[in-house]
Amino acid sequence: MKPTRDKRRDQRTPPDRRAAPVQHGKRRDEQQAPVHTTEPAAKPRQLTRRDGALPAERLPLILEVAPNRDYALIDSGDGEKLEQYGPYRIVRPEGQAIWQRALPAREWNAADAIFTGDTDEEGLGRWRFPKTPLGETWPMKHDGIDYLGRFTSFRHVGVFPEQASHWDHMAGLIERAKRPVKVLNLFGYTGLASLVAARAGAEVTHVDASKKAIGWARENQEMAGLASKPIRWICEDAMKFAEREERRGNGYDIILFDPPAYGRGPKGEVWQLFEDLPALADICRSILTPKPLAVVLTAYSIRASFFAIHALMRDTFAGMGGAVESGELIIREKSAGRALSTSLFSRWVAA
Ligand SMILES: C[S@@+](CC[C@H](N)C(=O)[O-])C[C@H]1O[C@@H](n2cnc3c(N)ncnc32)[C@H](O)[C@@H]1O
Repeated sequence: MKPTRDKRRDQRTPPDRRAAPVQHGKRRDEQQAPVHTTEPAAKPRQLTRRDGALPAERLPLILEVAPNRDYALIDSGDGEKLEQYGPYRIVRPEGQAIWQRALPAREWNAADAIFTGDTDEEGLGRWRFPKTPLGETWPMKHDGIDYLGRFTSFRHVGVFPEQASHWDHMAGLIERAKRPVKVLNLFGYTGLASLVAARAGAEVTHVDASKKAIGWARENQEMAGLASKPIRWICEDAMKFAEREERRGNGYDIILFDPPAYGRGPKGEVWQLFEDLPALADICRSILTPKPLAVVLTAYSIRASFFAIHALMRDTFAGMGGAVESGELIIREKSAGRALSTSLFSRWVAA
């Protein structure tokens, strides 16, 4: 019998461990160590290899975001990246940029905001504004959808532009379906994917553990003028929500899940990608409608190849037909055309 999430957690965590503050909306590199939770143990999920032919496979697939009028990776190098987010030019650390900058210093010196990461400071204090002090948020657009960019303490700016490749793909599936489509967005953060899906005509359920992120996502819905669109905003642990939908027999045509390597639910539930992803993928399969369209998984900051999540997704969707496509999401740099890889993905797409 496989251990449950909570049993594993109990084995791992010393009983005298004191809880650290919950830090939602952050990727693994920003999280504190796992903490003990008093949540009751969930019923174990038995995972068995599914029968049926494996879906066709397409890999490697590199999905690319090119510089566009809303967002551009202007240049990169020397461990940093220079990006244009709407009106602002922003400099942030980028560990992968081990090459030289292609643009002269004057281009970098024209930045409006620089992430300093000063740990003595909170929030905006971790940013430096060389020209003029800026507010926490600013107006941004994605393909005609208005939303708010924001300077967060953890160097993120409220959007992951590389996800646009998935958003375009999903919007195409929704529009071409020519029938009501239900989308589930797990680990939905500030809601861009939910807004794109709603604008394309889907009924959306957005789940995130962070009350703050849900608040930002709702603000974005208002800002986008999509307040009348059917989006349910749910602050809950992604795994718990998916399990409940399974018990209730609810189904979705498209599921997006973009889990962090490590995260916490609102009641202290621990999410560990390597331990919990197989079960969540399995539940996602069982909460699909009879004629599903796609299940899209993205993984950031993990020590694995896309072959690992590809194998998991193919096994999980055995017997369903269609294809599993896997690879990397990259951003193409404007200055010298270099590719900045941001994440791994694997998606099952119906035939
Ligand atoms: C970085 S974001 C995903 C980005 C988003 N898909 C996008 O492209 O904008 C990861 C999100 O997972 C949420 N999260 C972390 N642990 C969670 C859990 N156990 N259940 C639900 N959401 C969780 C965080 O609050 C955060 O908003």
